[in-house]
Amino acid sequence: MEIDEKYYNYHVDDLEYAIVSEPTVQYSLFEEDNLLQQDKQLNQLSVFRSLEKDITFSLAHSFENQVHFQQAHLTPVQRWFPYREGYSIRLVTAFLNELKITGKVFDPFSGSGTTLLAARHKNLQSFGIDVNPISTLVATVENERYNQADIKAINAELKILNAIIKSDKRFEISFDLAVKMFNDEILQTILQLKKHIKSIENIKVQNLFFVAWLSIVEEVSNIKKEGNGIKYKNRKRTHSGYLNIAKDDWENKHFPADKFLFVKNKLFAKIKLFLSDIKNDYGNSDKKPIVIHYDCLNFDEIFADKLQFTFFSPPYCNCFDYFEIHKVELWLGDFVNNKEDFKKMRETGFRSNISSLNGKSINYKNCHLENLIALFDRDNLWSNKIPSVVRGYFDDMHTLLKKLYLQTQRGGYVGIVIGNSAYSGVIIPSDILTAQIAKEIGFKVENIFITRHLTTSSQQKKELEPLKEYLRESIVLLKKEN
Ligand SMILES: C[S@@+](CC[C@H](N)C(=O)[O-])C[C@H]1O[C@@H](n2cnc3c(N)ncnc32)[C@H](O)[C@@H]1O
Repeated sequence: MEIDEKYYNYHVDDLEYAIVSEPTVQYSLFEEDNLLQQDKQLNQLSVFRSLEKDITFSLAHSFENQVHFQQAHLTPVQRWFPYREGYSIRLVTAFLNELKITGKVFDPFSGSGTTLLAARHKNLQSFGIDVNPISTLVATVENERYNQADIKAINAELKILNAIIKSDKRFEISFDLAVKMFNDEILQTILQLKKHIKSIENIKVQNLFFVAWLSIVEEVSNIKKEGNGIKYKNRKRTHSGYLNIAKDDWENKHFPADKFLFVKNKLFAKIKLFLSDIKNDYGNSDKKPIVIHYDCLNFDEIFADKLQFTFFSPPYCNCFDYFEIHKVELWLGDFVNNKEDFKKMRETGFRSNISSLNGKSINYKNCHLENLIALFDRDNLWSNKIPSVVRGYFDDMHTLLKKLYLQTQRGGYVGIVIGNSAYSGVIIPSDILTAQIAKEIGFKVENIFITRHLTTSSQQKKELEPLKEYLRESIVLLKKEN
């Protein structure tokens, strides 16, 4: 199995805030082209203006660092798994307090379970759904209640882990890229430790150890998650192109001689950290969240409770693929055992990227969206499937919001953390489009909080300069009044 070359070449300049995945526009010095470009910008502005009519916006820069949470690695419990796409517990708590939520809370894209952690902290019943089995495992383990007997069992298993010695046996793996992505001794150690963890009888303890194991996989590998995908750490971008450092040289420089002990100590330290958060009783409450591995578009099939507050961040309409970014953990953790399984898994996601399309039909039509899609420069789109991704995205959003409307109690709220994106010099303003869809369904749009502005790929930057106000990440707050 090969990683698509485009993931290595993702725009390093814009990595942190990039919202688009490919270069699309060639600039021309000809005036005619500039006029065409101005027309394209004016056409976009006219769509944006009609979408934002009657909507109240607030600048909420105090949420800037909360929507894209940089401090997760310092936050008790949230630091258990390096989930880069989460928001902060404080953000959800601010909404729970401000809206005086006392009823049931739901996150249809629960990821690492942040909404649930915040709800649990306030002793509220919550539900979380995610299609990625790693996310649901992490959210389950982070939201578990651990009593004194569990702490004793974790300590006992830690002692056993500490006493493990290196096996002479070779462990096999079906993930063919693993040989490139890991030092051989490190790979053998993580496979040996996984086998040991899977033999722990107490499932609560096994799951906790397994999340710790999953959380160190990237750290002990030769790859890192960056931008829209996975990159080799021994491949550096320089002014004159990419510099490849030989695998062995890189590994010798970055890993100690005793690689078995190196990995085992990392795992041990991680579980110790979990234990200290558990002992500090962080966020423990009577209301244990319910976390389910499912497609959120069918959430009404699994629970019928009326909801007072739904708070979530869907995948953005920017072709980011949550399965691709976690693919090493998915394969190594045996959530996926062959390419066909992986392909099928990718098709279960919200339609926000090309791998999720799988011929699903489009039932919802939105004229504003069609006006924007008509402005795409099709010759310069990096995939001809992008119009289907964009249409599919808002079709899925429409389905979800319709179901949420039915299941939200009167006076209840829905908060959506969402980022806008851009393709071939055309902005897809997901915040105001989502607000408009919600209005059509019957929600009142209480407010759109603009939390921060984003940058796009350097190729699109110049063309989008006059529209840069719309390159942003917002929180759309909806209310069901009647
Ligand atoms: C932005 S992340 C959510 C992060 C979460 N708010 C947190 O703080 O950890 C979006 C999540 O949506 C999940 N997802 C994508 N398609 C889905 C679907 N159809 N149903 C449920 N979850 C889905 C992805 O697996 C990913 O975990």
